Amino acid sequence: MESTYRTILQARSGELEKLKEMAKKDSWQPIYHIYPEYGLMNDPNGLVHFNGEYHVFYQWYPYGPIHGMKHWAHVKSPDLVNWERLPVAITPTEEYESHGAYSGGAIVKEDKALLFYTGNVKYEDGSRSANQCVAFLDKGGIVEKYADNPAVRGVPNGYTGHVRDPKVWKENDTYYMLLGAQRENETGALIVYESPDALSWTFKGEVKTKLKDFGYMWECPDYFKLDGKDIFVFSPQGIQSEGHNYHNIYNVIYAVGSFDLDTLTFDVDYYREIDKGFDFYAPQTFEDEHGRRLMFSWIGNPDVTYPSDEHQWAHALTLPRELALDGNELIQKPVEELKKLRDAAANFRGKLESETTYIDEATNNAYEIDMTFKDINANEFGLELFSSKEESTLLTFDTLKQEVRLDREGMKIQYATEYGTVRSEAWTPTEKVDVRIFVDKSIIEVYINGGRTVFTARIFPQKESKAGIKLFAHGSVAYDLEYYGLRRGIE
Ligand code: FRU
Repeated sequence: MESTYRTILQARSGELEKLKEMAKKDSWQPIYHIYPEYGLMNDPNGLVHFNGEYHVFYQWYPYGPIHGMKHWAHVKSPDLVNWERLPVAITPTEEYESHGAYSGGAIVKEDKALLFYTGNVKYEDGSRSANQCVAFLDKGGIVEKYADNPAVRGVPNGYTGHVRDPKVWKENDTYYMLLGAQRENETGALIVYESPDALSWTFKGEVKTKLKDFGYMWECPDYFKLDGKDIFVFSPQGIQSEGHNYHNIYNVIYAVGSFDLDTLTFDVDYYREIDKGFDFYAPQTFEDEHGRRLMFSWIGNPDVTYPSDEHQWAHALTLPRELALDGNELIQKPVEELKKLRDAAANFRGKLESETTYIDEATNNAYEIDMTFKDINANEFGLELFSSKEESTLLTFDTLKQEVRLDREGMKIQYATEYGTVRSEAWTPTEKVDVRIFVDKSIIEVYINGGRTVFTARIFPQKESKAGIKLFAHGSVAYDLEYYGLRRGIE
């Protein structure tokens, strides 16, 4: 297997420049979100602040916009704003990772960052297994696989071959590895290994929660503390949609409660979908040098084709978000550093009466809006984005239905419509509403009321469109809006 994949890589290396050229011409490519120059990106991996720099790895298949043999691609940044592309970190060339180097996290240990990943293995009869592996990133930027890989071979009794996405942390001199898993009865679970040195691991058991029958597989688990509370984040597959929740093919939740590491009992007080948008999956968090809990996520969904596929690239990562808790509500804020992206600024304020106000003609679709609506006396009000004569995306606050909606039905280019064209969340009308929006070519991130509700989505405007921004109110509402053009953060 090892030599086979090496041979394929060599034979195909000539194709990459051509793919890159094709993708580069695409005006949907973002300018300040992390994205692949070509090929398909999915989960963020190995997030770590190491040796004075932020490292982000991500799942990547180079040879086209498909979920092929996964590598770990690598970018780094001094400031979470300006990103530099580095050589591929992990290429799946070994027997223990014969069908891809899958997702995982990172820790810093002594003078290295340890990258944990799953060696995905498939057999001819269609069955699969998983090995948990380690690679070392040194201060010179070199990544080397652990000579004794896999650190964990195979899966524990009682689980199918779907055991993956190691997230490692240290507590009281012991290292713990959390993995997403599928029980033999085809329900999702989290399992834990422990280790004295982060290299030799022993199976400890399953995390016990009240969520016993919650989907058929839990991917990309994460665990951390905020305000003394324990939080798990994971991506369950197979959850039915209900009300405002779980409308994407797969969804992501966070659960807040208290976790007993000895007995692996997690008492869940509260859980909720993290992001209410169309395109959000497999997030990962890490703690940085300032003690902030930061999160990146994949802006995409598995098993869905995207309009950019025809240009030979797919997907992007969210902006880095700083997490906090307000009671049991998770608050997500774009990190402060992102203000460094701002260039031209403009302020618009006034009162909307019954009809649409037009505030900007051609935005070039790389901008931020930071605004407040107040003196609300309207049944509906909001913004029309990517707005042209022919199309628009609506962010609507509905005071009668007490909900906020992101609606991409009005765009000409549609995809994944079988999962609906509107996403929503409960919203209680209050005196004022704060809205912060980041638009980056074909990406939108909407943060409402300081990040209490977040929508992340891809929107593909027609190529020739001169998109603008409009405000609307059915009734009257006052607004105060800062507009910032945003500059490039990644080549
Ligand atoms: C989530 C996921 C992970 C897996 C990776 C493979 O999107 O399915 O569970 O490690 O993607 O690319």
